[in-house]
Amino acid sequence: MAKAYDHLFKLLLIGDSGVGKTCLVIRFAEDNFSSTYISTIGIDFKIRTVDIDGKKIKLQVWDTAGQERFKTITTAYYRGAVGVPAPPDPRSPQGIVLVYDITDEKSFENIQNWMKSIKEVGGEILGNASAGVERLLLGNKCDMEGRRKVQRDAAEKLAKEHGIRFFETSAKSSENVEEVRGGPGAGGLHPQ
Ligand code: GTP
Ligand code: MG
Repeated sequence: MAKAYDHLFKLLLIGDSGVGKTCLVIRFAEDNFSSTYISTIGIDFKIRTVDIDGKKIKLQVWDTAGQERFKTITTAYYRGAVGVPAPPDPRSPQGIVLVYDITDEKSFENIQNWMKSIKEVGGEILGNASAGVERLLLGNKCDMEGRRKVQRDAAEKLAKEHGIRFFETSAKSSENVEEVRGGPGAGGLHPQ
């Protein structure tokens, strides 16, 4: 039987509550948006298959809860994202997407803490935080330019310091949501 896909790519979205992680996943997987806020409880995932360079890439996008009280569950899933217990399979690269809200300064400051918690889990398991795990920084809600609190250059600087890629996105207007999935020239997350 023919395989339904050539690569499986698992993504995990993390970031403060309300930054728009669930909306980004819904825009990406179903091309939909709602302004009603339903805070995620625990964890959920959606699947989308995309064609990149004639290859079928199955993207399994894990959406986590930003609320502090779910921290233990979310952290447990980093382990999944870094391929535990088996080492990351080169045929199924893994990625972590860090999301903040450009209208919420605190959510940007907290990116440092989210980075730290990935490092702790990654370091504990792999001895090297970035081994096998692709990271990406997203500044969401860029449709709300008038309420911007986080300047683009501050985020660019942070991304550069950590050697990761950065996009400003909007789940509402779709801006840059497709670009994030990667592919030729897009520079987002994509299987090597
Ligand atoms: P938790 O599940 O609590 O961690 O939050 P979350 O990060 O999943 O946030 P969610 O996607 O539920 O979005 C929170 C609120 O922000 C909702 O009211 C969304 O409609 C709104 N929102 C999300 N993305 C955007 C965006 O790109 N632009 C605008 N204007 N609003 C957005
Ligand atoms: Mg959510």
